[in-house]
Amino acid sequence: MLTVETPRLLFTSTPTSVMRSRLTVSDFLAEVEVGRCETAGPEGRLTVHFPEEWPGEDALRMFPIWLARRERSADTGPWCDGVVVRREDHLAVGSMGFKSPPDATGTVEIGYAVNRSLWRRGYATETVEAIVTWALTRPEVRRVTAECLESNPASARVLTKSRFLQVGRRPSVEGELLLWECRAPVARHDRPAPERARIAGEPAGQA
Ligand SMILES: CC(C)(COP(=O)(O)OP(=O)(O)OC[C@H]1O[C@@H](n2cnc3c(N)ncnc32)[C@H](O)[C@@H]1OP(=O)(O)O)[C@@H](O)C(=O)NCCC(=O)NCCS
Repeated sequence: MLTVETPRLLFTSTPTSVMRSRLTVSDFLAEVEVGRCETAGPEGRLTVHFPEEWPGEDALRMFPIWLARRERSADTGPWCDGVVVRREDHLAVGSMGFKSPPDATGTVEIGYAVNRSLWRRGYATETVEAIVTWALTRPEVRRVTAECLESNPASARVLTKSRFLQVGRRPSVEGELLLWECRAPVARHDRPAPERARIAGEPAGQA
């Protein structure tokens, strides 16, 4: 399990039980183990509200596939999908994470979505920056990649703001895909949110 806190948000690996629940229920509360952190305190647990619009239609379509993968393969640790929780009210506001563990070249790909009613509040950028910063501290990671449709300027903007560079493009059945990567550490630049991002269990300032 990986938990990363930013000023407004908390990212944590999505529990398997939550994925299973979401396939049958569309608005529910669930206890989520997040580890000792500022949001959860020493108990390390939060009651999270998962609204109907979480995790978004793309991620929801993937849930059966991700569940099947979890059942047949070894624990992937932090390299899996996660939930973005708003710290002030423990609402699940997005779905984000790593598509698989880093490959032999040290490449790991991210995917991300925010509940439609909460777009344009900076939530995607704040969390993408935080999890990419964390990933690039791992010795097994050399670069983080992402893909977005050319017809999705909001997604491209999130990546640009998170210091990704466009490195290519390729056609897909849904349209032209832009390919992005981030190699340099993104922790130390002039945006305040990721500078204060923290990994649960670590003292402030280590992220
Ligand atoms: C892409 C997505 C994650 C962005 O989430 P978000 O929380 O609204 O993103 P942020 O608020 O951090 O940043 C969005 C940026 O895109 C910009 N933006 C939004 N719509 C835009 C548009 N139609 N054209 C250009 N820029 C746009 C915003 O102005 C903002 O940039 P700014 O801060 O410079 O003003 C969200 O739209 C989403 O979940 N979409 C559906 C799933 C998806 O497309 N995921 C990406 C798959 S590659």
